[in-house]
Amino acid sequence: MGKDVIIACDFASAEETFKFLDKFEGKKPFVKIGMELFYAEGPSIVREIKRRGHKIFLDLKLHDIPNTVKKAMAVLSRLDVDMTNLHAGGTIPMMQAALEGLTRPDGTRPILIAVTQLTSTDQETMTRDLLIDAPVAEVVMHYAGNAKAAGLDGVVCSPLEAGKVHEKCGAGFVTVTPGVRFADGDKGDQKRVMTPAEARKVGSDYIVVGRPITAAADPVAAYERCVNEFVG
Ligand code: C5P
Repeated sequence: MGKDVIIACDFASAEETFKFLDKFEGKKPFVKIGMELFYAEGPSIVREIKRRGHKIFLDLKLHDIPNTVKKAMAVLSRLDVDMTNLHAGGTIPMMQAALEGLTRPDGTRPILIAVTQLTSTDQETMTRDLLIDAPVAEVVMHYAGNAKAAGLDGVVCSPLEAGKVHEKCGAGFVTVTPGVRFADGDKGDQKRVMTPAEARKVGSDYIVVGRPITAAADPVAAYERCVNEFVG
């Protein structure tokens, strides 16, 4: 898997997104499209960004019965995205069905990764609301193991967990890590952060970076700084 920086395009409209992407001129960064933009603009936003030559991580975090997820994944695969995801909490049969749906007739498919426990779910909430008594760190690693067992390519995780995930699931199991900040930057609402250079050291395969690039005075320079620190 090639190391790359994925820009989280957390914008509310196509207009704002294209205004941002136009700044990159000849460059074609890998972009993440999340629920807000996808639900606002629909599949046309994916087609248009793809037409402009970008790779796309479609971050819709599917979670439903296996048959529904399989059919939804087949639709996303036809949209020609490069990476997409689901909740490992949907269990192994759901993840296996997702892979089947995602696989095109020629055998190719987008990279499929799993969200383990959301970082917004802490120990107290998990125990109280989900009745899961195991420690969060153990649950995260167990879900990563389930994703691997189901045949997925990797997980979304904190860069702080990337090393452990590789130890358990193998060096080829992809870690996609948000929570990245420049050493001299604003943390915003992210609590446990790493710089792009640190994320590289711990073995993250892809870093997902939003505001340090999208809210920068010079987004192209901020993107290039990320790439230099992370990819070298
Ligand atoms: O702006 P910022 O760099 O914090 O953006 C990080 C991106 O990664 C956002 O799109 C956010 O939703 C996503 N993300 C995250 N933490 C997770 C999972 C996804 O920050 N655990």
